[in-house]
Amino acid sequence: MTQATQPQTSQTAATKALKCKECGTEYELQAMHVCELCFGPLEVSYDYDLLRRRVTRESIQAGPNSIWRYRDFLPVSTQTPIDVGTGMTPLVKANRLARRLGIKNLYIKNDAVNMPTLSFKDRVVSVALTRAQELGFSTVSCASTGNLANSTAAIAAHAGLDCCVFIPSDLESGKVLGTLIYNPTVMAVEGNYDQVNRLCCEVANTHGWGFVNINLRPYYSEGSKTLGFEVAEQLGWQLPDHIVAPLASGSLFTKIYKGFQEFIKVGLVEDKAVRFSGAQADGCSPIAQAFREGRDFVNPVKPNTIAKSIAIGNPADGIYALEVARKTNGNIESVSDAEVIQGIKLLAETEGIFTETAGGTTVAVLQKLVEAGKIDPDETTVVYITGNGLKTQEAVQGYIGEPLTIEPKLDSFERALERSRTLERLDWQQVLV
Ligand SMILES: Cc1ncc(COP(=O)(O)O)c(C=O)c1O
Ligand SMILES: [Zn+2]
Repeated sequence: MTQATQPQTSQTAATKALKCKECGTEYELQAMHVCELCFGPLEVSYDYDLLRRRVTRESIQAGPNSIWRYRDFLPVSTQTPIDVGTGMTPLVKANRLARRLGIKNLYIKNDAVNMPTLSFKDRVVSVALTRAQELGFSTVSCASTGNLANSTAAIAAHAGLDCCVFIPSDLESGKVLGTLIYNPTVMAVEGNYDQVNRLCCEVANTHGWGFVNINLRPYYSEGSKTLGFEVAEQLGWQLPDHIVAPLASGSLFTKIYKGFQEFIKVGLVEDKAVRFSGAQADGCSPIAQAFREGRDFVNPVKPNTIAKSIAIGNPADGIYALEVARKTNGNIESVSDAEVIQGIKLLAETEGIFTETAGGTTVAVLQKLVEAGKIDPDETTVVYITGNGLKTQEAVQGYIGEPLTIEPKLDSFERALERSRTLERLDWQQVLV
């Protein structure tokens, strides 16, 4: 092996242990996700004193233009992580959407253009596969609602790892094609995500593969903290007042919270109470239901919604997402499939961003919260758009306009233009009556 391909660990990593979120028992940093004593989930813990001494705003800004500028806060020890340009996606001031909703300070964190596969999952997979290599796995895998399979297959291809992914068999064609193109083994399971996940837990035990969201979950989930770090940095090293994000397993939501807390702890931003609000689709809203009913436990449901990417009926981090929403004075809401489609269209028409169903859900919930007076018009609010609409075209087919087919002649164009203007006028008259 040449020098360049060996992992370089010139300075001590700030990671300390895997720690049980329930009973606090600590374990070595291995491929393991559940506490042996109480079955609680394990989370990576860090030496924050070391981070306070080591990391400054300047040292971060001098780093790469990717999630790896926050490497000290991520659970890897190599200095050469898998960097395919993931992260540092735009934070867009959404003035037109804000005006339409009647609020003033709205931002979109646009992971619809995250690299390489156009969803926030590229963040978690970049971290998980870097750790998988450190732990010596040669085959990587995942249980996915679509986006995670895209990311795992793409980044495994880049890293030269063998890859086998598991998805429900009824996913949108863009999600399936967006996995197959990287030539992994794809298992399309006749069942919903929760059944896929159960099967994968058995495979993880028998095959010794690195499942990014099962035995590597403590490392994988840390990748979502970068969605918190980037927003803080892009707001000029300040935290927003309120965030709205989609919920499937609840991991993303809780890790944005952890990211903000870590930046406060090491002195990179001033302490501030940020409100956390979560978005689900009515057809799979176990966390929103628990929130509404004041429960601190989540009853699993059977998903039935067009928002397939967030259709997890038995969310692993549901109770922690509930806890974060409650303690930050936020909310968890759900919306109908029709509202999801309206949300996709509203974001596209006001901001020029084409998101998938998870983003439509989040925009629709944002609208619902504003209408209910649960978002103050003056609050600096950040909405997390986590995936790209080109992957879920089925969701909006039949709900958008059609091209005007014309002959290659000027008079044909003029007639079509007049027709379209008449149609537009009629549309407005319908709105006015
Ligand atoms: C586009 C998109 N947004 C949000 C989520 C929710 O992620 P989490 O399971 O971390 O709550 C997913 C999960 O698959 C997703 O694909
Ligand atoms: Zn425990």
